[in-house]
Amino acid sequence: MDGSGSILLRMSSSTHGAPSGSVAAKALLLIAVAVPLFPAGAWVREALQMYAMGLDAAFLGLYLPARLLALIGLVLMFYQFVLASRLSFVERLYRRASLLKAHRTVGKIAYLLVLLHGVAMLAFDLVVAGEIFLFTEKTLGLIGLAGLSVAVVAAWFFKPLKLSLRQWRAIHLLTWLVFPIVVLHALALGTTTNSVPLVRALFTALLVGYVALLLYRLNRLRRETKAG
Ligand code: HEM
Repeated sequence: MDGSGSILLRMSSSTHGAPSGSVAAKALLLIAVAVPLFPAGAWVREALQMYAMGLDAAFLGLYLPARLLALIGLVLMFYQFVLASRLSFVERLYRRASLLKAHRTVGKIAYLLVLLHGVAMLAFDLVVAGEIFLFTEKTLGLIGLAGLSVAVVAAWFFKPLKLSLRQWRAIHLLTWLVFPIVVLHALALGTTTNSVPLVRALFTALLVGYVALLLYRLNRLRRETKAG
């Protein structure tokens, strides 16, 4: 199980409500742990063949692992919206404080994974060709990583940067712009996303889920503004 899986599972100890609620909470956690393992499994199946073929060291050591990091990282990025969206059915199963704690921890893991993905992809170019090749789909990844980095720096260094809550919120909103950009990047460019239809369907479903969460958040914001 990856680090985020155990963190998500630890959340089960802080669930509350009726016994049936805690069964639902555990079921939801199991699903949350299983989902990233699915694209990871598809990657393992392909990677085993590649490693057995004994391909180029840079490909096996940089390019291939970079893809695995991205496949898990993207799913964890989606979880961030679920954890932070104050969905009533989720808050019936877990305390808000536990959700926010998970949001912070999963956010760190997701960022680390996608950062390493981007760095490894750029390093691969440099090792193999001595220069970085950029084209639209790849540049989308870079734009996404840059936007995410700004949001992460603002969240991690909130105090030293002396940001107001308003400034932090505005910067944090960047993550909502980043997500569709990196999903498009993954769908356009990814090998697993283009060779395993169920992985493609999963990432498309994440995009649909993201749109639903965005509409939910906008609707709540509208209601809060109306109520003053
Ligand atoms: C937030 C930032 C990013 C996320 C979430 C992300 C996510 C992904 C995902 C999920 C894939 C599909 C992998 C597969 O299907 O096997 C992918 C592919 C790829 N990404 Fe990124 N990416 C990001 C940033 C970057 C950056 C900065 C670069 C480098 C400039 C990059 C380069 C690539 C390349 C070259 C591929 C194609 C790999 C293949 O052949 O399958 N990505 N990315």
